[in-house]
Amino acid sequence: MNILFVSSEVAPFAKTGGLGDVSAALPRELRARGHDVRIVVPMYARVHAPGRTFREVIPELVFALGGRIVRVGIYAATLPGSDAEVYFVRCPSLYDRPNIYGSGGDEHLRFAVLDWAALKLCQALRFAPAIVHCNDWQTSLIPLLLRTLFAWDKLFDGARTVLTIHNLGHQGTFPASAAAECGLGATLGSVHQDELHAGRFGFLLTGILYANALTAVSPTYAREIQTPEHGVGLDGYLRGRRDVLRGILNGIDDTEWNPAADAHLADRFDADDLRGKERCKAALLDGAGLPYRRELPVVGVVSRLVWQKGFDLCEQVLPSMLERRAFQLVVLGTGEPRFEEFFSRLARAFPRQVAFRPAFSEKLAHAVEAGSDLFLMPSRYEPCGLNQMYSLRYGTVPVVHRTGGLADTVWDFNPASGRGTGFVFEHFDAGGLGWALGRALDTWGSGAGSDRARWEHLQRNGMRLPFGWRHRVEEYLELYQQLAPGA
Ligand code: ADP
Ligand code: GLC
Repeated sequence: MNILFVSSEVAPFAKTGGLGDVSAALPRELRARGHDVRIVVPMYARVHAPGRTFREVIPELVFALGGRIVRVGIYAATLPGSDAEVYFVRCPSLYDRPNIYGSGGDEHLRFAVLDWAALKLCQALRFAPAIVHCNDWQTSLIPLLLRTLFAWDKLFDGARTVLTIHNLGHQGTFPASAAAECGLGATLGSVHQDELHAGRFGFLLTGILYANALTAVSPTYAREIQTPEHGVGLDGYLRGRRDVLRGILNGIDDTEWNPAADAHLADRFDADDLRGKERCKAALLDGAGLPYRRELPVVGVVSRLVWQKGFDLCEQVLPSMLERRAFQLVVLGTGEPRFEEFFSRLARAFPRQVAFRPAFSEKLAHAVEAGSDLFLMPSRYEPCGLNQMYSLRYGTVPVVHRTGGLADTVWDFNPASGRGTGFVFEHFDAGGLGWALGRALDTWGSGAGSDRARWEHLQRNGMRLPFGWRHRVEEYLELYQQLAPGA
């Protein structure tokens, strides 16, 4: 099947979060099944890492966008671990910036150009996609473009669109004038008219209205976004399209995230032999400048430090918990100054217990996942979440809020039956988080010392779960085949 996969992030070339991981790992798995999947992503400044080379595919594609002439080049590289082709849209005036997102007033143009360029590229290559898989607001003009301005081209006759919602918190909403600037002037009547009259134009809303199928990145999130509480103003539209909306849980790249063969780690381990994990813990603490004590549990955090992730609860819970309970905390993340300052203060106040690394580092992320005993993810909302799955794979027991993909991947531990994989709190408040973290520390405490059997049992419950994409890709293929039978 010919699949065009368009995304604003693809790891390892450009990643700020899970979207980058998914946009590499899902196409990799599709390609492994023999499908012809082509990925399209902007050529940001950071794509040019040392040692990377790119093939020039098309020196110049020219198109008009609302009276502006746009010239882009298309370059290609192979997706690491695969022979799938990644196409990079080169347009230095739009993409050659230090940050992937938000560093100018032209965000709508940056991603409108991506959407147009992806379709122009298909035309130039005569690549007829059966499925055009769009991801988040940045690629949400494509379904409308295919139904209107590109509908004349027989190349796209068989094309069906899937829009995956990774995060409804980002909708790409701009002043109404953006629609014409994005090249939709000739088809303005197809854009949501009430919104236009109210002075707004929304990328994601446009995608939700026009995609042939919608997916959310977990079944629980697919339900949640249809409610006023989690719908961020789009729940009515999502309910209106509930017949084509489904939740498909993300997978993880279990080659990259495999504690038995992880090159980033001080040692390796698996469910049958956890000794290497203890050495990873010692190495993590050593690197973080904290004393190692086997009997003290280490709580890890790897995250964007933003409101979505629930760190305001940590502000309320962690200082008193660190005073009362014996544990250590290692935090890796960057984000809002408020949370960076909070974790810096915490590290200063508890220098033997807390380490904070305000950085983005793949290597450290692996070290924290492997070397921690517990993983803290108190997200306010979480469309899917990958880190809790990495944690489960690494025998690092997650403490999570029951929301979105966290609810679908972590089951509360019941000491009596021995079932469950983590510690889950229902109510998003300080009491909820304190309760779950307290229970986690109690469970550790009761199993520490000479008899770790109960803790290891809990670790193994999670380590044995099949979260790899190879177990998940079928759901996407089933959807593709329903949309494009015979392709
Ligand atoms: P989100 O996409 O909302 O940030 P996910 O859990 O889906 O949440 O994915 C986050 C991804 O980003 C994971 O691969 C995680 O390891 C990575 N990540 C987040 N912060 C950092 C960081 N500071 N350093 C390295 N990797 C990070
Ligand atoms: C978004 C969500 C996260 C999800 C990721 C990949 O960034 O915040 O929950 O795992 O996309 O789908």
